[in-house]
Amino acid sequence: MKICIDCDDAAVNLKKVLFEHLKNKGVDITDLNYSEGKENAMYPEIGYNLAKEIQAGNYDRGISICGTGLGMAMIANKVEGVFAGTCHDVFSAERLRKSNDAQVITMGERVIGPELAKTIIDAWLVSEFAGGGSAPKVAQMRELEKLSFHPQNK
Ligand code: RB5
Repeated sequence: MKICIDCDDAAVNLKKVLFEHLKNKGVDITDLNYSEGKENAMYPEIGYNLAKEIQAGNYDRGISICGTGLGMAMIANKVEGVFAGTCHDVFSAERLRKSNDAQVITMGERVIGPELAKTIIDAWLVSEFAGGGSAPKVAQMRELEKLSFHPQNK
């Protein structure tokens, strides 16, 4: 499984912590580092870049971090085929994969401490889509997404 990670200026420390944590576990993780060499890169473009990488199939999953995690989730969900959610607890992070089949988890450095963030990411990492009763719901979400992105095909 290939994972990418990125952050805005509000989450540089948490990105470093999570990147090193996952690297030490042997996870195939890439820091997209969108902001490098750019002045004042803002969370929408950073989160959009990460989501486009997921959409292109270059990575299986992404971790997108900002001050609250909210802006990163909002922008990722504007990219067709990409589902994202903000998680600051283990249960939600597991459900994000098992129930929602989302590829992108977002977090806020201004919300959560590094140790809890690591525990949440560990739980997220080993969670996969469970299918079952969740399958038609996720399928419906994809159908409605299609309508939203391609209303002419209605
Ligand atoms: C700072 O730009 C802050 O607004 C951002 O990191 C994030 O929390 C947005 O959702």
